[in-house]
Amino acid sequence: MKKILFVASESVPFIKTGGLADVVGSLPKYYDKKKYDVRVVLPKYTCIKQELRDQMEYVSNFYMDINGTEQYVGIMQMVYDGVQFYFIDNEYYFGGMVPYGEIYQDIGKFAFFSKAALSILPVIDFRPDLIHCHDWQTGLVPVYLDNFRYGSEYYRGIKTVMTIHNLKFQGKWDTKEVQKITGLPDYYFVPDKLEAYKDANLLKGGIVYSDKVTTVSNSYAEEIKTPFYGEALDGLMSARSNDLVGIVNGLDYEDYSPFMDSRIAKNFTVDTFRTKKVKNKVALQKELGLNEDPKAMMIGIVSRLTDQKGFDLIAYIMDELCQDAIQLVVLGTGTEQYENMFRHFAWKYQGKVSANIFYSEDLSHKIYASCDAFLMPSLFEPCGLSQLMSLRYGTLPIVRETGGLRDTVEPYNEFEKTGTGFSFLNYNAHEMLSTIRYAEHIYYDKKRDWNKIVERAMNQDFSWKNSAKQYEQLYNDLIG
Ligand code: ADP
Ligand code: GLC
Repeated sequence: MKKILFVASESVPFIKTGGLADVVGSLPKYYDKKKYDVRVVLPKYTCIKQELRDQMEYVSNFYMDINGTEQYVGIMQMVYDGVQFYFIDNEYYFGGMVPYGEIYQDIGKFAFFSKAALSILPVIDFRPDLIHCHDWQTGLVPVYLDNFRYGSEYYRGIKTVMTIHNLKFQGKWDTKEVQKITGLPDYYFVPDKLEAYKDANLLKGGIVYSDKVTTVSNSYAEEIKTPFYGEALDGLMSARSNDLVGIVNGLDYEDYSPFMDSRIAKNFTVDTFRTKKVKNKVALQKELGLNEDPKAMMIGIVSRLTDQKGFDLIAYIMDELCQDAIQLVVLGTGTEQYENMFRHFAWKYQGKVSANIFYSEDLSHKIYASCDAFLMPSLFEPCGLSQLMSLRYGTLPIVRETGGLRDTVEPYNEFEKTGTGFSFLNYNAHEMLSTIRYAEHIYYDKKRDWNKIVERAMNQDFSWKNSAKQYEQLYNDLIG
């Protein structure tokens, strides 16, 4: 039995700000349980729902040296859906209403978390063969591990994998400060280790010190070796290209299932969507105060409202788009400018546009199930899970051909009758608009063809089945 430890800053059902939480909360369930004992360490944020916090059991505590002080490290545990989770408890670091805040505080928070995640291992009596780290928040894990090896036999030989879910976020801060916070020797703070452009860079440390680096789609693995997508680390990504692999994300097909989902008005399958899916649309129109019209093409957006997701393109053509025979349902939070833009258009086009500027798991499922199309014109997209959720519910994605969107959505080809959605290449508002209008044309004028695309979309397999196998293979390359 191989022992694997996931270390991450978010995971469903405990804490989620984006797709990272979906991945960390579902992938561990899909490894071959006869061969892998996969456990997960998370921070015990005070903003985790009380109901879940109440189910955690106390394991032990000790004090750990960090930032020149001795800090309390409490260990809690809980088995959820068959997966063993551990939680690091320290209310000074993990207090507050949201998991992330000011970057300089977050650096301290996740330096503490990364060191604690390694320090609890002898206490919980779980010495992993391999530690799988996720994003910059855990970038210091491989670095501390390297540092710990000098002092202790226990940590020697543990392998590490670093998965990049988003290269944009690197955890950068003043080198002197980070040196002080982490207590790591000068040795690490040089340009071929933690330092990048004079700052200390936690993700870079993780990339340099892990045995393998992965990212969440093949296209993104290629893209990040180029300056446009490389976020100033393209040189490093190229240098590590022998150890860099893209493994596309999967979805938890139990949570996202049009035939079992209890959050949606009417369940449906690939055989029944033609009559039943529309019942979800009508229910949602009622709920959100949109014009009740089963025939109107409904386009959905569920997203962090940030530049990454292409909202400047949408802003540019919003008025034009609203002249068309469509309805638009938005669910998201983020940049104020985009929040207000959607509020404005919902006011201007009442009955046609619905702006839901909050976070809601329930409403997100209803949107994936009810809409005809899903718009995701990202500037860059490491993988993207929303388009996979849409495909699963027969809601055709309209995407920009980048990263994981390019790898998971096959553009409709009306001559060969292939494809599962619609896509455009250039980051250009009118190229996007004409792609949306092409989709409108198929929806309104070629309904049979549209339904065939839906059928193909729903028949795609983006469960974890294939991707979990690829991670197993990667682990095997390292730990035999
Ligand atoms: P990213 O991780 O870059 O935000 P992904 O497409 O990988 O993008 O994952 C986004 C996840 O967050 C999806 O599960 C999506 O449904 C969810 N999500 C985003 N915004 C909201 C919201 N306002 N309410 C509910 N779920 C949301
Ligand atoms: C990041 C990326 C997104 C990806 C998710 C999970 O948030 O922005 O594309 O799907 O991580 O890997």
